[in-house]
Amino acid sequence: MSIQTLPTTPFTGQRPGTSGLRKKVTVFMQPMYLENFVQSLLDVLNASGADGHGLRGQTLVLGGDGRYHNRVAVQTILKLASASGVQRVLLGRGGILSTPAVSAVIRRRQAFGGIVLSASHNPGGPDGDFGIKYNASNGGPATETLTEAVYARTLTVSQVCASDAPDIAIDTLGVQSVEQMEVEVIDPVADYAAVMRELFDFDLLRGMFARGFSMRVDAMCAVGGPYAKAILEGELGAPAGTVVNAEPLEDFGGLHPDPNPVNAEDLIAHMAQPDAPDFGAAMDGDADRNMVVGRNFVVTPSDSLALMTAHARLVPGYKDGLLGVARSMPTSAAVDRVAKKLGIACFETPTGWKFFGNLLDAGRVTLCGEESYGTGSSHVREKDGLWAILFWMSLQGATGRSVESLVREHWAAYGRNYYTRHDYEGVAVDAANALMAGLRAALPGLPGQQFGARHVTLADDFAYADPVDGSISKAQGIRLIFDDGARVIFRLSGTGTEGATLRLYLERYEANPALQDVPVQQALQDLATLADQVAGIARHTGMDGPSVAT
Ligand code: G1P
Ligand code: ZN
Repeated sequence: MSIQTLPTTPFTGQRPGTSGLRKKVTVFMQPMYLENFVQSLLDVLNASGADGHGLRGQTLVLGGDGRYHNRVAVQTILKLASASGVQRVLLGRGGILSTPAVSAVIRRRQAFGGIVLSASHNPGGPDGDFGIKYNASNGGPATETLTEAVYARTLTVSQVCASDAPDIAIDTLGVQSVEQMEVEVIDPVADYAAVMRELFDFDLLRGMFARGFSMRVDAMCAVGGPYAKAILEGELGAPAGTVVNAEPLEDFGGLHPDPNPVNAEDLIAHMAQPDAPDFGAAMDGDADRNMVVGRNFVVTPSDSLALMTAHARLVPGYKDGLLGVARSMPTSAAVDRVAKKLGIACFETPTGWKFFGNLLDAGRVTLCGEESYGTGSSHVREKDGLWAILFWMSLQGATGRSVESLVREHWAAYGRNYYTRHDYEGVAVDAANALMAGLRAALPGLPGQQFGARHVTLADDFAYADPVDGSISKAQGIRLIFDDGARVIFRLSGTGTEGATLRLYLERYEANPALQDVPVQQALQDLATLADQVAGIARHTGMDGPSVAT
């Protein structure tokens, strides 16, 4: 076997989005498409590093969510990595590693970085999506500086260096080699489980199951299954069958592994039955997202973050309190009230987990969350689905209360932030851009304008100055904030692979417990109407309502 140098020509459009490079599988399967991107990444990594050594002598972590093309891509990447000077790769068995597990392995083994093969919650299979993202030595998503450098490299890359060694056996634990590079196939769960043991009181959780606590975790045929099974059923003694759809399938069994009430409708239906379990939860394709559900009661991610913050001291890993919290801008302000009461800092960042990394690294925050079913903490540098599930289970164990009563008690104490997100999917790119441009042009005239009983106090295009490194991120979403605290936010998705998706986020605050039980869409109807009035959503998209409202 030897290293081959293969000529190549650049592909346009290999710019990573909110979370790595995501494209249709058919795009990734074009000859040299993955090779070009990975070579560009390796070139940039080789040019980086203060010591000038780049990847030489370094360890990379590699794994993915098991979707279609995962196994093929793993072999390709190993061959390129071996030609770029990498000394060792830690590969999840079967090519499997969840996103939070990659983060945990990088941190525990002090790796240089890691490559995650996932398109997160996007559907999989030959007609579905594939994706690749890079995480740095802190375990978190690459910074924009790095992803932009990779993108720039993809536009000039002219050769790919790869070993012509045979494929390795990715299902066998132990050390193999590709040229000079060692590949250690590792148990995908072990490092992650060790982190969970450090944070949670496993005896308490074991006791809950022993006393009959019932739970249904829907892994949606994605990568969370093996983790949930090993920890909940294996270690904590949950009855077999607690985790359903537990085997990762290349097409996720046709499911759309995005844990929200629409895509996880089967879980919602089970939790509405008279004999529903005490607690329900679901995770997404790469197991970094979570949805938590009580008996006939869905918890919004924004409320989840607020409650976790309020009760964090009940969990051993957070018993000394939180350094601070952070939420993405479109996430509801529920957590802000809790942070204020606790006297801790609350940061508002642009959408995307990468913006939490600096705050976590600098010790400014302990918990973070996004409205898109993502919550996490300083234990890794990614959001973490199973961690959130164990956290909520711990809250029930420590308080003896149900999910619903915990949330209702919270609303009574802090008020309720009614919240919804409306997605307009498959919009023509030009129409979506025209809508956003129209909004931007209208911004200066909006402050002071009256809409029904409320008036606009702030209208802007959200910009973020990172308090740690001072970097500025502009144009992160249009915000309209009203005198009663209501917010209407517009932004375009950065993770889609077809057309554009407009995301409309609506929120209003209700302090009066007697008015906290209105159906959410009804409670926010006037804001939805207002949003259409200001942005001309129906006019631009030709749609008379959102494709998904969660
Ligand atoms: C979406 C979510 C965002 C999340 C990202 C990756 O990005 O809205 O909160 O961080 O997926 O999971 P978007 O498509 O909105 O750019
Ligand atoms: Zn995900």
